[in-house]
Order: sequence, then structure tokens, then C-alpha cells
Amino acid sequence: MFETLAPSPADPILALMLAFREDQRDDKVDLGVGVYKDADGQTPVMKAVKMAEERVYQEQQTKTYVSPTGDVDFCHAIESMILGESIPHSRVRSIQTPGGSGALKVLSDLLKAISPDATTWVSDPTWPNHLPMLSRAGHHIERYPYYDAAKGAVDFDAMQAMLSSAKAGDIVLLHGCCHNPTGADLDATQWQAVASLCLEKSLVPFVDLAYQGFGDGLEQDAVGVQILARELPELVIASSCSKNMALYRERTGCALIVGDSETAAVNTASLAVKMIRSNYSMPPDHGAAIGRMVMLDKELHGIWREELESMRSRMAGLREEFATALRKRSNSERFDYIAEQRGMFSRLPLTEEQVTRLRVEDGIYMVGDGRFNIAGLPQNRADGIDQVAAKIIAAMD
Ligand SMILES: Cc1ncc(COP(=O)(O)O)c(C=O)c1O
Repeated sequence: MFETLAPSPADPILALMLAFREDQRDDKVDLGVGVYKDADGQTPVMKAVKMAEERVYQEQQTKTYVSPTGDVDFCHAIESMILGESIPHSRVRSIQTPGGSGALKVLSDLLKAISPDATTWVSDPTWPNHLPMLSRAGHHIERYPYYDAAKGAVDFDAMQAMLSSAKAGDIVLLHGCCHNPTGADLDATQWQAVASLCLEKSLVPFVDLAYQGFGDGLEQDAVGVQILARELPELVIASSCSKNMALYRERTGCALIVGDSETAAVNTASLAVKMIRSNYSMPPDHGAAIGRMVMLDKELHGIWREELESMRSRMAGLREEFATALRKRSNSERFDYIAEQRGMFSRLPLTEEQVTRLRVEDGIYMVGDGRFNIAGLPQNRADGIDQVAAKIIAAMD
């Protein structure tokens, strides 16, 4: 049976990661992979995480099963971090998942089971993995326009106009903050308008919150999702600790279900649990045990918040620095949008050929659509950022 198979194409971002690793040039620059890097190009374990890990090692007495919903205290801490006091927590049930991707998968399966005929509306562009994930779960996908590349901002009129054509019960996938790949986010007024539209048309938001704390701050990055939770009877949220706790490989995330009533939330979560049991059965524990301590222990929480804030402000500073270098090298203001955007990613107006040329000739790696990781800029090399800017402008000629 296996002999009939042709090789499946590799995920383009994972393939790029591999190509970068194999590149022998000393001055290569990785702007492709979606992980935070410090000024030395490293992705270290956060200090608060290391401390929590030591405590888990000392305190944990058993490795016996937890449950399909995972670590209850971890889930409650995530709920508070995302929803604050915006709604009564009786309306919420949350389930620990293997990473943000696990939450997306659990919620995609759940929504498909509840509403098999719904269309799921996804921003154009979006994180490439959203599409195969949703289609594997059987969703019918439509795209809504999102980004105005000329302005480097959300094309909100076009987004609203397209979503106005959605039918009652349709699902709208939204990036809670730090839109991947564009870095262009909705402001509070626009979130309010999206909430009104969803209410008027009976649409269900499916929020992907993978970068909380990377945009304007931990609380500020949850403003949009809190507006939706306050205004709407139902929504679901996929949260990830991969980036804000740098727990990437520990696969730590959470799926939140917000219902109109406690009963609705409990019953919906019970269906999700049933589906999880017949899928991966239970999530891994280690990352959630660390995440729980980091969020609930006062000392660790303080250390973590400081570390996260320094990552966030470093990225904001890099945005300014890169936009300034591009302004100088291009003699134009057309890249100023990079300083206005948020999170780890933005897009450069490059063709696939130009992206390939930058990789092959200059050792600058980025995704084919011009998405680059701001944290990957070579800040520790003298004139490193200016040189990357110069090469990018040269590649555009
Ligand atoms: C927009 C978006 N959603 C979800 C995820 C999934 O993150 P995780 O590694 O926690 O599965 C990512 C990871 O890059 C992402 O960029």
C-alpha cells in the first residue's frame, strides 16, 4: 500500500529552516522561522521558565494521567490572562491543548461537528497552516480581504464588506493580535465594529491568540478578544504559550469556549472532551505545569512579565531601527509602516524571485511572500541592520 505514494511536499517554512541550518555562510541572516530571537540570535529558555522547571522537578510526585482537559489551574490562569474581568468566568470552559496548533485543531473539529454547513472565513493573507488545518477538519473555507499592502494597514472597509455577505452561523477566524504574516492589527474601534457585525449577522468568532504579549503588552493585546466576549453570546479562542513563554517544543496551549450560559459552555466543552479522548486522549503535562507556576507564583510571574516586556520592547525598537534603515537606503517613506505594525512579523513588497535572490546571493532567508521575522535582524553585528536594508533595497531594483 505504501509503494503507491509519491513524496508529499514539505511545509515551506520548515523547509526554509532546514536550508538555513545547512547554509555554511557566516553572515547568513534568518528572517524566516517564526521564533523569537535575542540580540545574539538565540532563543533561550526564559529565566522564569527555568525556575519553574526546577520546582516542577522537585515537587512533582507522580507522572500518572491528568485528564483530557489537562491542568485545571493552568487553564484558569490562561482564562484570566485572556479575558480578565470582561465576562463572568462561569460562561467559559477551557481545555489545555498540545500548543496553539492543538487548540486550533480541537476547536476546528468541534465547530465542524456542531455546525457542519458553516463556512469559515479566513483573512487573506493568514498563517499558512490555518488553511490545511481547517480543511483537514472538513471546513468549507472562504477568504476575506484583510491587508492593504500599499498602506501597510488593515483594509477594514473591504474586510467588513466581505464579512457582511457571510450567512448566519458562519465562523470568522480572527488573529487576536500581531497578525501573522502582516503585523497589521485591528484597533479597538474596529474590534467593536467586528463584534457588531458578528452580532447582527450571527457569526461566531474563532480567535487565534498566538502572540499575546508581543504587540502592545499582555493586557493590551487582549482588548479585541475581550470586546468580542463582552458583546457576543458565543466565541472560541485558541491560545498559545509557545511564543510568550518560549515553550515552543513543550507544546503548551489552551482552547477556550465561551458560551451564552454556563450550561452552554459546559455542554460544548464536554463534546470537545469526547472528541479529544478519541484523538490524542490527553495533552502533555510538562509545559502546562511550568506555565501554571509562571502565571500563579508571584515571584515567577514578576520575572516572566519583565522578560516578556523586554522581548516586546526589543521588537518595537527593532521595528523603528529597520524602518529608519530602509528609509535611508530607499530615500522614501514607503517602509515606515514597519514601525507602526506589531508583533514578530511584517511583509516586504518583494516578489518570490527577489526573495529567492536574497537567499541565494545574500544569505538572507525569508518566506516567499516577503514575510520576515523582525527579531531575526542581526542586531549584534556592526551595521547589520543597515546592511540587510541595503541588500533588500538592491534586490528590489
Ligand atoms: C498565527 C499562529 N497561530 C498559531 C500558531 C501555533 O503555535 P504553536 O507552536 O503553539 O502550535 C502559530 C505559530 O507559529 C501562529 O503563528
